[in-house]
Amino acid sequence: MAVRDIVRLGDPRLRARAAEVPEAMFGGAELRALLQDLRDTMAARDGAGLAAPQIAVPLRVVIYGFTHNPRYPNAAPIPETVLVNPCIEPLGEAREAGWEGCLSVPGLRGEVERWQRIRLHWRDPLGAAHTAEREGFHARVVQHECDHLDGVLFPDRLRDPHAFGFSEELRAAGVL
Ligand code: NI
Repeated sequence: MAVRDIVRLGDPRLRARAAEVPEAMFGGAELRALLQDLRDTMAARDGAGLAAPQIAVPLRVVIYGFTHNPRYPNAAPIPETVLVNPCIEPLGEAREAGWEGCLSVPGLRGEVERWQRIRLHWRDPLGAAHTAEREGFHARVVQHECDHLDGVLFPDRLRDPHAFGFSEELRAAGVL
């Protein structure tokens, strides 16, 4: 287990499309070790989620979940979930604006529109396939983390360039 360095905005590794996890890796020690590093790093930084490219591993693996998160104090708890090779399908047309942050964009928050409801397809670390519907903040976290697998970061999706700034300043201004 290890807390890994987090790659920050500006590093080209965050902008690459991550590769599918190959069949041979499911259930194996390499994937297990990667998940432990993601879990340890997310916990050490109070993250709501973390994608493998954020620790410089170019694979389609995401972890998220928390009981109480000081970075998102009003969010309802989400059980720890690991998504391998995830795929998102929007349900309906409804989109919802909300403030997001990212461990790769430290200190900043921006308002981003996301699908309100999605159907999510993924594999678990042993290789079993799952499908589930998600909505609200849970759906937002999934969309944010899965964006990392395609080299997309939340500032790319700002609803309005003015709805973006340092968390401390936004809080002082009463916006957050
Ligand atoms: Ni992020």
